[in-house]
Amino acid sequence: MGDPTQIHPSLRTVEWKDNKVVMIDQTKLPNKLEFVEFSDYHQVAEAIKNLVVRGAPAIGISGAFGMALAVLKSHAQTKDDLIQDLESAKKILIETRPTAVNLKWGLEKIMKVANKGSDVSEIKQSVVEAAKKMAEEDIQTNMTMGKHGSKLFDNNDTIMTHCNAGALATVAYGTALGVIRATKESGKNIKVIATETRPVQQGSRLTAFELKHDGIDVSLIPDTAVGYSMAKGLVNKVIVGADRILRTGHVFNKIGTYQVATMAKQHNIPFYVAAPLSTFDLQSNPEDVIIEQRNATEVTGIGDTKTAPDDINVINPAFDMTPPELISGIITEKGVAKPPYDESIKKLFEAKK
Ligand code: MRU
Repeated sequence: MGDPTQIHPSLRTVEWKDNKVVMIDQTKLPNKLEFVEFSDYHQVAEAIKNLVVRGAPAIGISGAFGMALAVLKSHAQTKDDLIQDLESAKKILIETRPTAVNLKWGLEKIMKVANKGSDVSEIKQSVVEAAKKMAEEDIQTNMTMGKHGSKLFDNNDTIMTHCNAGALATVAYGTALGVIRATKESGKNIKVIATETRPVQQGSRLTAFELKHDGIDVSLIPDTAVGYSMAKGLVNKVIVGADRILRTGHVFNKIGTYQVATMAKQHNIPFYVAAPLSTFDLQSNPEDVIIEQRNATEVTGIGDTKTAPDDINVINPAFDMTPPELISGIITEKGVAKPPYDESIKKLFEAKK
């Protein structure tokens, strides 16, 4: 199953092949590069729940591909019945994980395409084509974002990142890691410090894996060494991804991001967020956003090794919120938003029109 070192920009985290969804099983990384193939949207839903595929944009595109499987599997003879089947698939897929808004974005975009269709066969074709187009656009968006963001980083910068906002969190290239790739591709000499990102270790298992293979100088630290690294002057700038960004500039991302941002502020280190406009939620207020709570076993053990006593109460939120005052800039495919975010984010979406 593929030599793990064979990663290059064209590797696809998730793709549509012969009317099936093919994705990298990220639970097996970094030790094995295994691909899984699905022909039923229930399988895609399970893959999202179990972190076989994860990362906001990758979840959004996987959801869209799940809808494409649903449309092909449907035996509906009328448009109404087909839309009914799609609504059922959407319900299953949207209930997999609540925090990353890209999932809702991807599913609703497909429903819009389907509702515009005139008959069953036209809808089936347009839904599959739309999902494939969304996947291609994801890569272009990341590369454009990378270019915008690379201007914020200097030669010889050491850049800290938290979790994995790389090719493995998108279709390819990545958001925060896309900016790091673009900065390197622009000829600047950079180093990266990646946090382990307990409990699921997206930093050590996925970010270190991606960057090491790309030949980008990466060091790994335990999450508890963020303060130490900043106090020692090892970090020039920070960049992370996002799962949901509000019109106010509040950013929801992997648990621990808020701590990293707070330490960065403490040490006057610029803290950037990179995310496509599909990760923005202009309706919700901070208190409306559901923070996913994940299984205690993620905290009480690593693999088969138990690392906590039985029956211990565990609090395991998968994401946290970073307030706008801790964020130096938000990098998107439409440019960089700077504080005050209620104005600059509005401008980004006007630019989108
Ligand atoms: O639980 P995960 O692995 O899906 O969390 C992923 C993150 O928090 C990423 O930083 C975020 O989705 C941005 S991905 C480009």
